[in-house]
Amino acid sequence: MEALIRPIAPDSDEEIAWVASRMRATLVELLGEQRGGRMYTTEWLRERVRFHLDPAQCEGGVFVAVVAEGLAGHTIVRRETWEDGSTFGLFSTFWVEPRHRRSGLASRLVAAGEGWMRERGLTVFRTWTDPGNAPLIALMTRFGYAIEGERGEFVVLRKEA
Ligand SMILES: CC(C)(COP(=O)(O)OP(=O)(O)OC[C@H]1O[C@@H](n2cnc3c(N)ncnc32)[C@H](O)[C@@H]1OP(=O)(O)O)[C@@H](O)C(=O)NCCC(=O)NCCS
Repeated sequence: MEALIRPIAPDSDEEIAWVASRMRATLVELLGEQRGGRMYTTEWLRERVRFHLDPAQCEGGVFVAVVAEGLAGHTIVRRETWEDGSTFGLFSTFWVEPRHRRSGLASRLVAAGEGWMRERGLTVFRTWTDPGNAPLIALMTRFGYAIEGERGEFVVLRKEA
């Protein structure tokens, strides 16, 4: 399968809506319809994507994976500040359409996100997820991330570039 990884088209309402809908799908997959599906409104999720694309609000980026039929995955990254005041690159979320999983799309999204972080001089990369999210933990471990600890109900994965 040929796939292209590229930044989202920042002025495309359609692509922003697609990413927002998959942010909801991620919450539903991880937390269930009852909890995950009701956490945020559609408009809030769209604004959350736009937030990452607005340099006045955030130093962030949104990458999408595109296959012949259209969008098949995304990741959102941003510069964040840790409790001790140090900055790091955060993978805020990932999604790959179920029918395209285990074909390396998320791996390519990790590579694109890490490239974005390196370009900005960031040397520590992190993500956090539900401790039961074995696929994501396996993916990040493969890229050299190690479990750093817990953050609320999440497990934190960290890598030094
Ligand atoms: C996690 C997710 C993004 C992985 O996407 P993907 O495109 O299937 O991942 P890749 O094909 O790049 O996988 C690379 C490696 O990660 C590991 N991995 C990925 N999915 C896995 C799974 N279900 N079980 C075990 N290992 C897995 C494997 O080591 C895999 O290599 P392999 O296929 O050669 O064994 C995808 O499962 C997903 O969208 N999940 C739902 C959303 C989500 O949990 N997002 C994160 C929220 S914080």
